Amino acid sequence: MNVPRESALAATPQVGIALPHESAHLHVRGQATYIDDIPEVAGTLHAAVGCSPLAHGRLLAVDLDLLQAQPGVVAVLTAADIPGSNDCGPIVRDDPILAEDTVHFLGQPVFLVVATSRDLARRAAARAKDVIRAEPLPPVLTAREAHARQQYVVPPMHLARGDAAAAIAAAPHKLTGSFSLGGQEQFYLEGQISYALPQEDATVHLHCSTQHPTEMQHVVAHALGWAQHRVQVTCRRMGGGFGGKESQSAVFAALASVAAVKLGRPVKLRVDRDDDFLITGRRHGFEFDWTVGFDDDGRILGVEADLIANAGCTADLSAPVMTRALCHFDNAYWLPHVALHGYCAKTNTQSNTAFRGFGGPQGAFAVERLLDDIARALGRDPLAVRQANFYGRAKRNVTPYGQVVEDNVIDDLVARLVRDARWAERRAAVNTFNAGSPVLKKGLGLMPLKFGISFNVAHFNQAGALVHVYTDGSVLVNHGGTEMGQGLNTKVAQVVAHELGLPLHAVRVTATDTHKVANTSATAASTGSDLNGKAAQAAARTLRQRLDAFLSEHPQHAAAPWPALVQAAYAARVQLWSDGFYATPGLHWDRDKLQGRPFFYFAYGAAVAEVVVDTLTGEHRVLRADVLHDVGRSLNPAIDLGQIEGAFIQGQGWLTSEELVWHPQTGMLATHAPSTYKIPTANDCPPVFNVALYEADNPADSIHRSKAVGEPPILLPFSVFLAIRDAVASTGESGCLPPLQAPATPEAVMEALAALRASGSSASPT
Ligand code: MTE
Ligand code: HPA
Ligand code: MOS
Repeated sequence: MNVPRESALAATPQVGIALPHESAHLHVRGQATYIDDIPEVAGTLHAAVGCSPLAHGRLLAVDLDLLQAQPGVVAVLTAADIPGSNDCGPIVRDDPILAEDTVHFLGQPVFLVVATSRDLARRAAARAKDVIRAEPLPPVLTAREAHARQQYVVPPMHLARGDAAAAIAAAPHKLTGSFSLGGQEQFYLEGQISYALPQEDATVHLHCSTQHPTEMQHVVAHALGWAQHRVQVTCRRMGGGFGGKESQSAVFAALASVAAVKLGRPVKLRVDRDDDFLITGRRHGFEFDWTVGFDDDGRILGVEADLIANAGCTADLSAPVMTRALCHFDNAYWLPHVALHGYCAKTNTQSNTAFRGFGGPQGAFAVERLLDDIARALGRDPLAVRQANFYGRAKRNVTPYGQVVEDNVIDDLVARLVRDARWAERRAAVNTFNAGSPVLKKGLGLMPLKFGISFNVAHFNQAGALVHVYTDGSVLVNHGGTEMGQGLNTKVAQVVAHELGLPLHAVRVTATDTHKVANTSATAASTGSDLNGKAAQAAARTLRQRLDAFLSEHPQHAAAPWPALVQAAYAARVQLWSDGFYATPGLHWDRDKLQGRPFFYFAYGAAVAEVVVDTLTGEHRVLRADVLHDVGRSLNPAIDLGQIEGAFIQGQGWLTSEELVWHPQTGMLATHAPSTYKIPTANDCPPVFNVALYEADNPADSIHRSKAVGEPPILLPFSVFLAIRDAVASTGESGCLPPLQAPATPEAVMEALAALRASGSSASPT
């Protein structure tokens, strides 16, 4: 028996509808509390990090006296002041909080200044180059150089099926190539911040802008040498995370907490943007070398590829990032024979980390770039070449890592997109335009995507939630996920409201807190609503069952309004709060063989983009983009559309304007502020931007048959890069393969144009 709908406040469904973000009214009024908005407790001190001025060196001494003598300085901490373990590595224990005897990158934290104001702390920390004495060692600054020295943060990984070398040798056509794909800064609008408040009896309460409160709890406990129950971590929301606050918030969490406990005073560490760039890692840049064998239709018969990631100086999350890259090299295509080799090159740069897509985009970019070459070399339509390679349904449906693709919708989705975007017609129009336009050249790009949903570490796929019903009928939800703007709390509140038959405003979601739900996973891998939605649904179901049982014994309350029903149940001593737990079923993964079923299901999508390139300056504009993206049965179409549009523009920035440049001798990251590092602006959004949802039930038993949406759409703007390359190719002979590197900055476009001119531009498959 159900709680009778007539007794509830509302009987309308609360999922599948476009409701505003739970904090939208606060965001727009500037009333949403981020960590720096929390009123400061009296006696709060402020910290700033002293960073290594060298990319590599033996640390000899730090002149602490000089730092101590700076105005406002209360304390200076070095590695020796960390009472527990001086490490904040999420997987491998190779990541010192403060440098001990060697510095490994320019920007590495060496000491912490604690002062009476943030300004004074930063002024003192800026003396780093005067107070740090170090003996320089030669730095290794590029992934290629580290690879040549076989210098890796984790052992190389190999994913193989069949005999790629033999298949390539026997193939009618063969192409070989290399290219480079840059990294990307998360550029969350709220920078990294931690505010640590020492509490009674040797405990600490940390407010931290983090996607992973439990990991912060662990790192802080280790650093202090404490049991985990002495550390409480709270995060109401982040002003963006994008993967940059999955592990990279840890160093600041640990520093603020160690300082606060040592001094017995609250300590806030809000990192300046330039320091954030210099200290924290970002999306891994990749280098690719590949050989592919294919037939006359462009069907891939065998492919061999090296994927060389710039991991930076420590392991961080590079191993799972590379795993996901290898598991997305197939993208939407059946590759009969593959030999993929993943190298996480160890360089003297910031330690690279999670960023939306987590290696998936890099792996999929490789195969898209390679298919673009195949289509160009054969002079065939890139759409037809892709269609020839799509995964099948009954056969040609097993991924190189052994998972059967059971939910394939790629043919139908792509067919609908190219029809609605009028691909063939516009292809002809672009060719006509280019024939009459010597300087401005248009280009079209198209690509499909398939993205695996679940953490590729099986045991991370679990979540917990608490649902409280108060005696007035109002409902409070707490779950293990974190809100970073993606709308997770809204979706979880919708699920609970729906389950209890209440309108959304009856349900409030509170800050993520390690004292409420324990042992949580990072809000990452796009699994936030899949995992926490299911856990919250389970909790709400338990409450419904208790109320149902109560009603079957006390049918006189069946017609009562919800608050009266709750009151009556309370008076009858029914437990009106519950926990809920969820673990994704059916996952298994052999991390040595890179085989198994790492993903619960796949999300699909496709995009077509049109650009115009000025061949005299290398600049471009995106004229139009069409997107069809699969979100299953959307929990909230407004939020999902926002995620797709945001991811598209963010990925467009990655592939066109966001360039990371390290000084080739010193290893200084030259592009460490918005003045030199160009993220997209409103002006870069395509003036025609058609984004549609491909709505169909998720065949997997996900929360209300929805699909995760956070990361997959970051692949869609490959279409923009491919369109730019198409425009560049139109300046060469047919069959030319423009050596365009990503990001396709004006400089990169000019280089590719020049290379085409110099080579006489033609290239054809052997
Ligand atoms: N959207 C906003 N607005 N801000 C963010 O930081 N992070 C992305 C994506 N969308 C992000 C975002 C990343 S990297 C992930 S993994 C998912 O959101 C995480 O949230 P979810 O699992 O709830 O989708
Ligand atoms: N995504 C994000 N974080 C992770 C993953 C993943 O797939 N695996 C382990 N940590
Ligand atoms: Mo997202 S890169 O998994 O935080």
